[in-house]
Amino acid sequence: MIFGAPRLAALAGRTCHAARHLQQAVNASTQAPQMIKVSAAGEKKNVALIELHRPKALNALCAQLMDELTATLKQLDQDKSVGAIVLTGNERVFAAGADIAEMEGKTFAPIFAERFAQKWMDITKTRKPIIAAVNGFCLGGGCEVAMMCDIIYAGENAHFGQPEIKIGTIPGAGGTQRLPRFVGKSVAMEMCLTGERINAYEAQQAGLASKVFPSTKVVLEAIKLGERIAENSPLLVQMVKESVNAAYEMTLSSGLQFERRLFHSTFATKDRKEGMKAFVEKRVPQWKGE
Ligand code: HXC
Repeated sequence: MIFGAPRLAALAGRTCHAARHLQQAVNASTQAPQMIKVSAAGEKKNVALIELHRPKALNALCAQLMDELTATLKQLDQDKSVGAIVLTGNERVFAAGADIAEMEGKTFAPIFAERFAQKWMDITKTRKPIIAAVNGFCLGGGCEVAMMCDIIYAGENAHFGQPEIKIGTIPGAGGTQRLPRFVGKSVAMEMCLTGERINAYEAQQAGLASKVFPSTKVVLEAIKLGERIAENSPLLVQMVKESVNAAYEMTLSSGLQFERRLFHSTFATKDRKEGMKAFVEKRVPQWKGE
């Protein structure tokens, strides 16, 4: 939460220490992110582009980077000018996993107490669609973050893997849970038990990536996809995302019931009315997001 100046001043009058603490909180919450870059992309600037930017450590996902990423996604989710989000790294790496240097000295009690990596799941709370545009290494926590996105586009040089077994641990943010749902048990087991990587085409064949592009084109193609998604009603886009995601959480009969109820509820929206009217009148619909 960002505190306004008058409230800060009032508190400063009460205790110096509390005000200093609050000022630090304000600074932290208003500081520009250091480890990610955020920009508006696409012709209408309605696609938010987030670039993971910690190149010297191959975009290792340290606490600061993850804090910046989750806070940014939360902001973009509230921003009406944003229709879709693209998450990428650079041409060498999407992300080489959680920061091993940061984890190396930790023991069970603190890692349990701080609920290490629980915050990562905030990515999945984003209601707007997120497209991961993956070049290069997409390993461990990097692969898990990509799988938290809604669609993965891979550059030809992309490599996906869950190498945690090689460093004496196991995946901790979905590698043993989301990966089998994408690629099936046999491929997921092989990846997690050996730590070996699959390439972009293998990822596409297995259903992890939806498309493969030349490495120089993948971000552009992801932005174009974001633009096509953003042409639709923002309300309905969010409903589709929620409903498809429900397929991974529910039995088929509960999921079908959930979908049907959501479908029924679209008949309470202006955009459903407009969409069908525009079709009948042979014109382009004007969405209101209502
Ligand atoms: C911290 C990392 C890192 C990581 C690379 N670096 N990966 N630092 N955490 N995950 C750093 C290196 O230490 C090195 O720093 C610099 O990045 C370049 O890496 P190199 O190894 O020199 O590059 P290269 O030889 O090209 O090899 C690339 C690589 C290799 C194959 C990706 O770096 C690698 O195997 N990285 C670890 C991959 C991994 O095990 N990921 C899973 C992490 S565990 P210096 O300072 O020496 O230049 C995980 C658990 C998730 O993700 C759980 C979620 C809760």
